Parts: sequence; C-alpha cells; structure tokens
Amino acid sequence: MSAGATGAPPRVAVIGANGHGRWHRRVIAPLHDAGRVRLVALVDVRLIEPEPAAPLPADAEVFTDHAQMLAVARPDVVVVCTPPHTHLPIARDVLAAGADVLLEKPPVLSMAEHRLLAAALAETGRACQVGFQALGSAALAELTAAVTAGRLGTVTGIATVAAWQRSDGYYARAPWAGRRTLHGRPVLDGALANPLAHAVMQCLAVAEAVTGTPVRPATIELERYRVRPIEVDDTAALRVVPRSGPPIVAAVTLAGEDFVAGEVIVTGSAGRAVLEYPTDRLLLPGDDAPREVPGRRGLLENLLAHRADPAGTPLIAPLARTAPFTAVLEAIQAAPEPTLLGGDLVTATGRGPDRVLTVRGVNAALREAAGSGALLSELGVPWAVPPVRTELTREEDA
Ligand SMILES: NC(=O)c1ccc[n+]([C@@H]2O[C@H](COP(=O)([O-])OP(=O)(O)OC[C@H]3O[C@@H](n4cnc5c(N)ncnc54)[C@H](O)[C@@H]3O)[C@@H](O)[C@H]2O)c1
Repeated sequence: MSAGATGAPPRVAVIGANGHGRWHRRVIAPLHDAGRVRLVALVDVRLIEPEPAAPLPADAEVFTDHAQMLAVARPDVVVVCTPPHTHLPIARDVLAAGADVLLEKPPVLSMAEHRLLAAALAETGRACQVGFQALGSAALAELTAAVTAGRLGTVTGIATVAAWQRSDGYYARAPWAGRRTLHGRPVLDGALANPLAHAVMQCLAVAEAVTGTPVRPATIELERYRVRPIEVDDTAALRVVPRSGPPIVAAVTLAGEDFVAGEVIVTGSAGRAVLEYPTDRLLLPGDDAPREVPGRRGLLENLLAHRADPAGTPLIAPLARTAPFTAVLEAIQAAPEPTLLGGDLVTATGRGPDRVLTVRGVNAALREAAGSGALLSELGVPWAVPPVRTELTREEDA
C-alpha cells in the first residue's frame, strides 16, 4: 500500500549510495529524523561507505541490486545517483515499480533516451525531478523575475564563465571519469556535461524566462579542449542559438589559472545582471555590488510537496525542462575528441594525484568569450580551433 494511502511518511531509497549519493543521504537524514520520510533502503554495487552525518536507520536495508530493492523495500520515492549511462534503465525500473524518481543530472545522454524516459513517465503517471539543484535558488528566481519585469530591457545575450581546477586524482576516482564511452556504451563525462552542467542549465533557465518557453536550440556550436589524455573536454566554449530568444554562450574550464566559481551574465539593452550561481550572489542593474540572495528550495522536498499536491506545487526541475541540456549533450557526444593542449601552454603544479594542469591565459580568454558572446576561435585565441556546428531540425526539437 502506498504511503499516501496510509498517511505514513513516503518510503525513500537511494540507488548509488557512495560518491554524490552520500550528499543525498545527508539531505534525507534530517527529513527521516523529522518523520517526513522514511529511509528504507540504500543500494550500491560496491560496499556502501559509512556517512557519519547520516547514519543508516536500524530498520533500513542495504542491497546490491536495485531491482531486488524495488521488489522488497517498495519505496515511494527513489534517488538515483549512479553514473550517467545507468540512469535510463534504472529510472525506468523505478517508475515501473510505481515510485517517483529524483534522478541525478545529467538525466540521460541523448534525445532518444529523453523521449524513452518521457514515455515511461507518461505511461506510469509518476514524477521525475532532475538533480539540477541550482534551479531551486532564490537568487535565480530574483534574476528571472527581473528579466521578466523588463529591468534589463531587451535581453541580447546570456553567458556563463567558470574556471575550476581538477587534479589527476579526480580523473582516477571512478571508472567513468574523463570517459566518453565505457564498455562500448556512452558515458560522457566532461566539463560541460558534468561538473559545470549547472552553469549551462542556469543559462537555459534564464533563456526560458526571456521567451516564456523552454529553449529550442536551432544551432549548437562547440569548441572542446583537454589538457590530459582524457576522452572529454576539460575546457570548452559552447554557443547555443535558439529558434527564438538570445544566444547562450558557456566558456568553462577545469584547468583555470584563477578560480571563478561560475557566473551567469545576462546582457540587456538596459543593463547587465550577474549571478554567481554556486554562491547565489546576484548583481542587478543599478546595484552597487553583488549581494547574497539566500535560500534554495531542495529538490527532494519539492518532489515530496509535488506528490502531495501535483497541481499546486510544480516540480522545480521536471524532465521536460532539461530537454535543451540533453540536446547539448547529444551534440557533445557527436563531436570529435577534444583538441589536446600541451607544450608551453600548459603548466603542471603539485604531485601524484594532487597534480593540476592549467592553461596559460585561459581565464582571460573565457571571460572575453562570455563578455562578448564570441567563441574562442572568433576571438583569435592562438590555440583555439574552429567550432563543430550542429544544426537541429524542427522535428528534433518537437
Ligand atoms: N547535482 C550535483 O551537483 C552532482 C554532483 C556530483 C555528481 N552528480 C551526479 O551524480 C551521479 C553520480 O556521480 P558520482 O560522482 O557520485 O559517481 P560515482 O561513480 O563516484 O558514484 C556512483 C555510485 O553508484 C554506484 N553504482 C554504479 N552502478 C550502479 C548500479 N547499477 N546500481 C547501484 N549502484 C551503482 C557506484 O558503485 C558508486 O558508488 C552522476 O550522474 C553525477 O553527474 C551530481
């Protein structure tokens, strides 16, 4: 019997309990303690690591097989935090078992997978929230409200710039790290697809506010670079030109000289707004300095509220909202291997798993791209290569 029918708290399970799954366990623990959910099971194909901040309740069970867990523990809500290439089959199993899913980003790896998951949602009538947690930010809501109210005038461009560093150890942490395929199946790690996916999704959310509808990309242009012999980008410039609304540029690196947390820059005829999305610091036209806009609606709590009142509480990150992000992933998947940068351009610091590589001048180049809406090759950056361009047909974005 479902939790709703008995009045008991929803039964929650996590599939993929290590890695970022430990963060989900920490989110669930206070909800469990408050009696708002009941954590019934953790699943992982590996030994489950203890999480001191979220001890396993005495009556919760541990499984290595998600199908067995679904049959035995019969959860109402399942967090799926496994590697991206496993998302579709596991999410479909969860939905078929009658549970709602909080599916980590990237939800799926292609538009074909997106359509299969959308069909499973329609068939089962269940809900899917995608793990783009920055979409629940009050700062983003204030930015999109300012856009909608016309405070920026006509929006002419949306861009993001981010410069992080990732060590050799980062790429050794999981079998799918730095890979484009694993055992012949697409996995698609990479700066745009994984750690800086939120930067891209925040831009898509702002673009959605400009036109009032999800972005329908007409063209996707990609420049991808890497500083290690990985199969995916650690540095990239992306431009999405939608069928309507302003172009979106993402200029990002995991080989940055200086740390840039991640800025979403919205340029309009009446001024410019900047949202530092990881810290929720916002600068609107007329502001003297950025200010923190605290408050994030949690994706799991929102999914629980949506289950209780589907019409009154929309999901923050429903699958449909992520379609343009998946279109970008599909373009990345189809693009050739990124250009390998080396020689004098790349500087190594640190040793062993802590070694990081940085690209000389990358911060300035990325910032110029984000500020101007140009790709690196258009700016004459000496190491830049011409973009790979994907044109989407109207059928593809229908
Ligand atoms: N929203 C965010 O900010 C955020 C942050 C980090 C990771 N993620 C996403 O979370 C997902 C997991 O990333 P990660 O870095 O934790 O990966 P990871 O490889 O470190 O951990 C994934 C876990 O899933 C387990 N697993 C793999 N296949 C499984 C299966 N079939 N059944 C059960 N368990 C299985 C692995 O053993 C591992 O413990 C990815 O989609 C990633 O993009 C999201």
